[in-house]
Amino acid sequence: MVGILFLLFPRALHGWYEPRLEDTCERSGNHRDSSATGLGIRDDNRSDLEKPFTDPGMWQCSICAHENDTSNLSCELCGVLRDLSLYFNNISETEAGAKRRNKYSGVSVLARSLFAPSSTKSKAIIFSDGSQDNRNATGNKQATMDALHKTYMPSKKRHINIAVQIKDSVDATGKKMMDSGILQTEKDTSMDPCTSAEVDKLGGTSSSVPSSNQQVTPILDHELQHLSLESKPKSSKPKIKKPASISEYKPEPWMLQSEDQEIRRQLNLAIVGHVDSGKSTLCGRLLHALGLISKKQMHKYEKEAKEKGKGSFAYAWAMDDSTDERERGITMTVAVKYFDTEKYHVVLLDSPGHKDFVPNMISGATQADAAILVVDASVGSFEAGMGVNGIGQTKEHSQLIRSFGVENLIVAVNKMDMVEHSKDRFNFVKLQLGIFLRSCGFKDSSITWVPLSAMANENLVTAASDSRLLSWYNGNCLLKSIDSLPPPHRDVSRPLRLPICDIIASITLGQVAVCGKVEAGGIRTGSKVLVMPSGDLATVKTIERDSSSCNLARAGDNIAVGLQGLDPGHLVSGGVICHPDFPVHVASRLELKILVLEITTPILVGLQFELHIHHARVSASLVKILSLLDQKTGKASKKMPRLLTARQAAVVDVKLDKEVCVEEFSALKALGRAFLRSGGNTVAVGIVTRILDEAKV
Ligand code: GTP
Ligand code: MG
Repeated sequence: MVGILFLLFPRALHGWYEPRLEDTCERSGNHRDSSATGLGIRDDNRSDLEKPFTDPGMWQCSICAHENDTSNLSCELCGVLRDLSLYFNNISETEAGAKRRNKYSGVSVLARSLFAPSSTKSKAIIFSDGSQDNRNATGNKQATMDALHKTYMPSKKRHINIAVQIKDSVDATGKKMMDSGILQTEKDTSMDPCTSAEVDKLGGTSSSVPSSNQQVTPILDHELQHLSLESKPKSSKPKIKKPASISEYKPEPWMLQSEDQEIRRQLNLAIVGHVDSGKSTLCGRLLHALGLISKKQMHKYEKEAKEKGKGSFAYAWAMDDSTDERERGITMTVAVKYFDTEKYHVVLLDSPGHKDFVPNMISGATQADAAILVVDASVGSFEAGMGVNGIGQTKEHSQLIRSFGVENLIVAVNKMDMVEHSKDRFNFVKLQLGIFLRSCGFKDSSITWVPLSAMANENLVTAASDSRLLSWYNGNCLLKSIDSLPPPHRDVSRPLRLPICDIIASITLGQVAVCGKVEAGGIRTGSKVLVMPSGDLATVKTIERDSSSCNLARAGDNIAVGLQGLDPGHLVSGGVICHPDFPVHVASRLELKILVLEITTPILVGLQFELHIHHARVSASLVKILSLLDQKTGKASKKMPRLLTARQAAVVDVKLDKEVCVEEFSALKALGRAFLRSGGNTVAVGIVTRILDEAKV
């Protein structure tokens, strides 16, 4: 949804961010924001009440119910500690880490911070009206993944920044088109009941929104309603034949084809970390060193940055190309660029580090196969990222990316020039942060530590050259470390699942096209696909990846697909393109296993919230809290509790206002992760354990 807001109100979005005193504090790491974490996998469809943990030789994760070997001290699937009481140890981070390490030989938790006591009180969560106000506590809007997906749209420019690729012209069919031929996306709102409300709020309440944008609001509003109506009639839709069982599915040979035949595999690489740690500078420097920014362009950045008194941000300007970002010296939206290593076609997702833009960071990081966590080695800055007085974004981002399933992490210990390339400082950072990363569920063997200086181009694309660094470091440079990342897992052997991020139109793709990331299976031109939830059959006319047309795409690819033979009104973002014989589930009631985050107002039965599952977002209500989960055993400790408070885990029954395409987490993680948001905050995260009420499509 916010993708459309980006399209039509880019300046308005920027307007939400006003410089505040908080900014200064944030840079000192004095604030924390609520964070989300993902959960593991269930191996069945039943709640804990129904399936008590029995095997004495194993222990069951309290969150994802995965049965772990006794030698595992944290869940091998989701990283949650076996003994959750450890989360509540009221001791300092370092001491706690050390103690846990002594007792449990260094294993960790995914969601420790979710349970950890915080010195900073989080804001009250109001679950009153399921209001579609998606602002966070500071008034910023959440960016959805469509913002990211725009970057995969055909474009004349190869490098695109989400924030600036925007012009708001609307054609007669209700789709946004850029007059240069670059495509813009339009989102249908039929799965998104909050659209109008958000637009109203955006246009109507933000004092910083330029008046021209406010005038556009009613037009947009009307248009969205129109689209919404268009997508409703389903009478003419063809009947889906009885779905086959997934076990009957046999992938076609072309889907499994050896990846060697492709030139390079795509690797979605999220760049995350605390504000000002040097993420954008690192990206800009990397691109420059790889020859992807011309001398002339770089000279322009340098000149302009200097003129604005921001000389040190010249490389960051390669990523931060909106006026607001440049003036404030801060990344606000995810910028996307590409480069190739020997093995990979890397999609670089430069995230904002400021806590106000965590939702934007999420939009990029959910797509990541691997991540670079950039930490500032300088004295005081590293500590701020670690959250001396709360949770810094070094920690929050680490938790988030782990929760999105990212397992492989490169820690870029940046600004080594500020600490004289000191081995001791590097080791200090490695020790402190290493404890925390393990606690998030990262394995030591999956973390690569690279000391570097983005500004000085030290150890980025060639081996270290500074004698101080060379005296103790002989590992890989950053580029080699990226190339050494293990290939991302792709669910190619399952039936096709392509969650629709956006509805688009273009000259090359045609008037009926969608974009999104293939989460499972493969898709080929000429093949028939099922469009859910409408149940229409369509033919794949064209596929585009990175602006070039191709014949097929497999799980992991971000693509745009032109479709033939269906009513465009039957396409909705949050819908899913499926294999014709194996449709995705469409549910209106779900059983979720959730972890409640740091909230101050309890969650009560009957309360309303906003549920996010892949690109779908719907209003939902909490019908029942089926059981509270014991923190230590993970077993149901109390049936039907009246309320949930911060850091509790529970199995809940939720009713959705609209049907949503969904899979149980055990079947397909990407379509079975749920985020519960209210008042702009993520208040709980969870997984779909059971589909309670399946809609007849
Ligand atoms: P946000 O996106 O706003 O979170 O910031 P960021 O992490 O992208 O940081 P950015 O690249 O904007 O850099 C912030 C400041 O750090 C700039 O002034 C950079 O010049 C400086 N900086 C980045 N890398 C280095 C480095 O290796 N050494 C030194 N000394 N300064 C650096
Ligand atoms: Mg930045």
